[in-house]
Amino acid sequence: MKGIVLAGGTATRLFPLTLVTNKHLLPIYDRPMIYYPIETLAGMGIREVMVIVGGKSVGDVVELLADGSHFGLDLTYRYQRGALGIAHAIGLARDFVGDDAFCCVLGDNILRGPALAPLAREFEAGPWGAGSMLYRVPDPERFGVAELDAQGNVLGFEEKPKVPKSNLIPIGVYFLRPDAFGVIEQLVPSGRGEFEITDVLNHYIPDGGLFAREFQGEWADAGTVPSLLRAAELAAADDAAGRLTPPIIRPVG
Ligand code: G1P
Repeated sequence: MKGIVLAGGTATRLFPLTLVTNKHLLPIYDRPMIYYPIETLAGMGIREVMVIVGGKSVGDVVELLADGSHFGLDLTYRYQRGALGIAHAIGLARDFVGDDAFCCVLGDNILRGPALAPLAREFEAGPWGAGSMLYRVPDPERFGVAELDAQGNVLGFEEKPKVPKSNLIPIGVYFLRPDAFGVIEQLVPSGRGEFEITDVLNHYIPDGGLFAREFQGEWADAGTVPSLLRAAELAAADDAAGRLTPPIIRPVG
């Protein structure tokens, strides 16, 4: 399985913190934000990762992560022009992905708790076209939101609905196959002018092609000031419990 980390966007919700720098370089407790998704993918046993960069300080992102060997990874990069959404960014990884299944993690998603490696293996070996990790939040209107039937099966996702149909959201960890690139090509931009990942997930639902599992750990996106703080608190709690390994420091030079 290959990995993708998305580190583009303009991060206006964090202005002025992100006026002159890339959101994914901001500190979350003891390390830059982008370390968390990188470690999430490395923890799944994924070795080949493409980082899709865009917005401010792209060179600093590359300088920080370099070739990824200090994380045990083989990193490559692609540049996303504009902020056209998650599905558009994933589309840029088509050649990199080739014929493999892949996992895309949003660069501002902080996951603490159980390793995702068993779920990655289950998706890869299974019949599904797409996989989504779900999580309960108090403010679902900020995210994609799942609509569920009485048995808890996902009927569909709505992106940032005014009236959420549940408090279960798809976090920014997506399992996909190369088939998704054809789906992305057919997408039309949403009301906010973005190619939405929730539309890609929705494509697979009618035929039972969606692998959906509730994430059993703790999760935060760090895209707003309160969630940036919450993300740091998650890392601090893990540190206090002795579960946070020291940040890897790239060799100088
Ligand atoms: C994005 C996705 C949304 C998902 C969220 C998780 O939202 O569009 O479906 O729930 O990431 O972090 P955005 O970062 O665009 O607000």
